[in-house]
Amino acid sequence: MIKSLMDWGIHCLQAGNLQGALHSFEQALWLDANYAEGYLFLGLAQQQSGDRQSAQQSFTKAIALNPQDARFYFYRGELYRQQQAYHQAIADYRQAIALKPDWSEPYSPLGELLFQMGNFPELIPILEALDRAGAGSDTLYFQLGVAYRCTNQIDLAKQNLERVAHLPSARLELKEIYRQKVMDWHFWMMNDAVRNQAYDLALQELVTPASTVLDIGTGSGLLAMQSARAGAKQVFTCEMEPIIAEMAEKIIMRNGYRQVIKVITGDSNLLQIPQDIPERADILVTETFGAWLPAEGALQTIYHARQHLLKPEAKIIPCAGVMYVVLLEAAELHGRYFAGYSSGFDLSWFNHISPYADYKFIGQIGQHEYRLLTEPVPLPRLDFYHAPPQLPELHLELEITNSGTIHGICSWFDLWLSDRHMITTHPDRSLAHNAPSYGQWVQLLEEPLTVEAGDTKELKVTPDGCSLV
Ligand SMILES: C[S@@+](CC[C@H](N)C(=O)[O-])C[C@H]1O[C@@H](n2cnc3c(N)ncnc32)[C@H](O)[C@@H]1O
Repeated sequence: MIKSLMDWGIHCLQAGNLQGALHSFEQALWLDANYAEGYLFLGLAQQQSGDRQSAQQSFTKAIALNPQDARFYFYRGELYRQQQAYHQAIADYRQAIALKPDWSEPYSPLGELLFQMGNFPELIPILEALDRAGAGSDTLYFQLGVAYRCTNQIDLAKQNLERVAHLPSARLELKEIYRQKVMDWHFWMMNDAVRNQAYDLALQELVTPASTVLDIGTGSGLLAMQSARAGAKQVFTCEMEPIIAEMAEKIIMRNGYRQVIKVITGDSNLLQIPQDIPERADILVTETFGAWLPAEGALQTIYHARQHLLKPEAKIIPCAGVMYVVLLEAAELHGRYFAGYSSGFDLSWFNHISPYADYKFIGQIGQHEYRLLTEPVPLPRLDFYHAPPQLPELHLELEITNSGTIHGICSWFDLWLSDRHMITTHPDRSLAHNAPSYGQWVQLLEEPLTVEAGDTKELKVTPDGCSLV
């Protein structure tokens, strides 16, 4: 009797006869008030009739009668989701999965909700399980890509997003990854003909057919390919940013140097011989310098390479660098980041909420109005065959040669790629048509300082920059 009532109720439910369905399920439950399945179907009929409160009670009753049936939680979860009670819905979907992990139904709506709520750590295993079960779809790969990106698993994010790169939303996500991982200066450097030529000439001077070259900081693969073109027997090039390393590999292949150049994804400071490179290299070439020369870790990188990756008689490109420091008047540049007197009012208190406190400007100061208030002072020459792993701290006394207002401390450098080839980031080149891809480094002072010619100022230089004492 109960079975035929249930069958008729289900038939009515499927046919959209909700009154008939409700009546049949209620009759069945009148015959057996502990029939859990009956409450499930009654709940479904009530839900479809718009009586969500009764439906919720029915599903809850079904669960109370048989807490081991995953379906009851799933359908109550669906009801909660309809009611926008997302936390309860998630809890029910989770319970359904815990009871019956190989039942695929709850995974998708749970994934959807976790995605909406930004709960990516929990979402990832669910989407991975769906993918393994063959339920991969554009939406799934997109969501997985976003979830990996938001949990900083960039390689996996990229792989998944690339699978659905035909979706505009996926392309936007990929762009966001590139924005985070591929700095704009890569493009400036690739197009810095003066720099590129100087490296090329230095490599042509030093590379022989017997040379093994180690290029640290692959980027586009440019210096590695220059090394190969100069005739190196073998080139090892390492790049710590996997997205860039992968792209370099493609570029190297397209340019026909795959046989000679091996790209290693990783930080050179972790490379080992012979695990990563079969033997120590004859030549090191690297371009891992910042506008403040050691800012990208070049001194540590070169020091480590000398100790662990190069032959004792290896050549190093560049062989030396000279940093300069100078005090700078640059009111217009300063005014972009700090407030002072305007229209006769003192607005400098605004600096207390400035996001630019301790701001280091990196760019072409020649594109702003500036005056040098001291002679440029060279720091002790950094000979990369012997330089320590970090810039030694030092104090300098600078004599003011032009009266004015100090707005910042500026630094640039000369880089000697060989004894004959030097590139400079001197601000005089800022306005040239072939301005260097590196800018100058300027530590702006929050409070400008008026000085007279003949005054002296003490400067403290540390590995990270310099400041007035
Ligand atoms: C300034 S770019 C130079 C790219 C290319 N060599 C060129 O000259 O056009 C420096 C690259 O080196 C990488 N890099 C910096 N230090 C590194 C290190 N210690 N090991 C591996 N890669 C490094 C950065 O991720 C960046 O892509």
